[in-house]
Amino acid sequence: MFRRLKNCHNVEDMRLLAKQRLPGPIFHYIDGAADDEITYRRNSSAFDDCDLVPNVLAGVESVDMSVNVMGQKLDMPLFCSPTALQRLFHHDGERGVAKAAEKYGTLFGVSSLSTVSLAEIGALTATPKMFQFYFHKDRGLNDVMLERAKAANFDILTLTVDTITGGNRERDLQTGFTSPPRLTMRSLMSFAAHPSWALNYFLREGFELAELKDHIQEGSNVSVTIGEYFSSMLDQSMNWDDAESLRSKWNGQFCLKGIMSVGDAKRAVEIGATAIMISNHGGRQLDGSRSPFDQVAEIADAVGDQIDIILDGGVRRGTHVLKALAAGAKAVSGGRMYLYALAAAGQPGVERALHNMRTEIERDMKLLGVSKISQITREMLRYR
Ligand code: FNR
Ligand code: LAC
Repeated sequence: MFRRLKNCHNVEDMRLLAKQRLPGPIFHYIDGAADDEITYRRNSSAFDDCDLVPNVLAGVESVDMSVNVMGQKLDMPLFCSPTALQRLFHHDGERGVAKAAEKYGTLFGVSSLSTVSLAEIGALTATPKMFQFYFHKDRGLNDVMLERAKAANFDILTLTVDTITGGNRERDLQTGFTSPPRLTMRSLMSFAAHPSWALNYFLREGFELAELKDHIQEGSNVSVTIGEYFSSMLDQSMNWDDAESLRSKWNGQFCLKGIMSVGDAKRAVEIGATAIMISNHGGRQLDGSRSPFDQVAEIADAVGDQIDIILDGGVRRGTHVLKALAAGAKAVSGGRMYLYALAAAGQPGVERALHNMRTEIERDMKLLGVSKISQITREMLRYR
C-alpha cells in the first residue's frame, strides 16, 4: 500500500510511512533498540496491563490540558524528547521539530548530537527549550556547550545518565548504520532505492553535528556507530559529583534523564535537580531494564512532591499519556512518536503527529470525565 501523510492517524501509520521513505539503515536506527528489544516492547505494552476507570456526567465541554513542569507552562502534557541526527531523517531536521513544537505550545529537547546549532534554534523559537547534555571526556567541549546553551537562552539543561557506554543495537550492526552514513555498495543501493531522501541528503546543506564538529571529527566527518561514539567520547567516570557541579554551573532548571531507581531519584533531589525523566532511552541501552510506566508510581510516591517527574518512553497513544499522569508523572515525553513523523514528512509530519496526540488526549480526557490534568488521579487506574 502506498501511504500518505493525510492518511496517518496514529504513530504506527507514521512509522509505516517513515519506513517507506527512508533507506533501511536509517529507518532501523530510529526504530531499533538494544539486544532482543524486550525493554523496547515492554515500554509500550506496560500500558496495556492497566485500565482506566472513567467517571461520567462530568461536564467536560471545555478541556484544559496544560501543565506546569520545570518552570514552564506547556499547552499539552506531552513534549518531544531530545533525539540525535535529525537532518539525517529529514532535511527539516531540528528546525522543523522546533517550529512544530512551538505551534503546539510544547517543549522540545535539542540533543548534544544535534545537526543544527543551539544558536540557530534559540533564535528560531520563542517557546521553552531544553538542551540535552552528553558529558564528554573533553572538558573544553563540555564548557563550550554549556556556554552556548546559556547564550541561546535555553531554559532547561538535561543531563542524560543512561548512556555511560553504547547499547548493543544489533539492527545497526546488521545494516551497517553509522553517523555520517558510510558510503558502501550496500548503503548506496539503499539510497538509490529512496531517491527523494537521497537527493535531499546529498544536495542540501552538508550533514554535521553542529555543536561537536569543532572538537570531534567522529560523527560529522569520520563515520562511527552511535555505540562507538558513546563508548569512546563520553566520560565513563561521570558520577553524582559531576552531575551536581554541572547543575551548579548551569544554575537553572536542571533535569536528569534516565533515572530508574527510587534511590537515584532521591539523590537527584539531594543534588538540587528540578526534574527527572524516568527513562530507559527508549529501550536502546540496557535491554531487560524496567519500563518507565512500570516504575513511575514507585518513584512518584517517594519523591513526587519534591521534584518534577517526567515519564519518557513507549508513549504511542493519548491514553498512554493519561495513564502516566494518573500514575504520578507531571508530564510525558516521547521520541519515536514524532521522529517517525519527521522522517515521513518533515515539519508538517511532526505537526500532524502532535495534532493527532493532542486530539487523542482531549478526546480521552472527555471520555475519562476530566476537564483538567489535576483531576487525573491514581484512583482512575486499575492494574489487572
Ligand atoms: C534517542 N534518544 C536520545 N536521548 C538523548 O538523551 N539524547 C539523544 O541524542 C537521543 N537520541 C535518540 C535518537 C533516536 C533515533 C531515538 C529513537 C531516541 C532517546 C529519546 O530521548 C527518548 O528517551 C526515547 O526515544 C523514548 O522512547 P520512545 O518515546 O521513542 O519510545
Ligand atoms: C541514541 C542516541 C544518540 O539513542 O542517544 O541513538
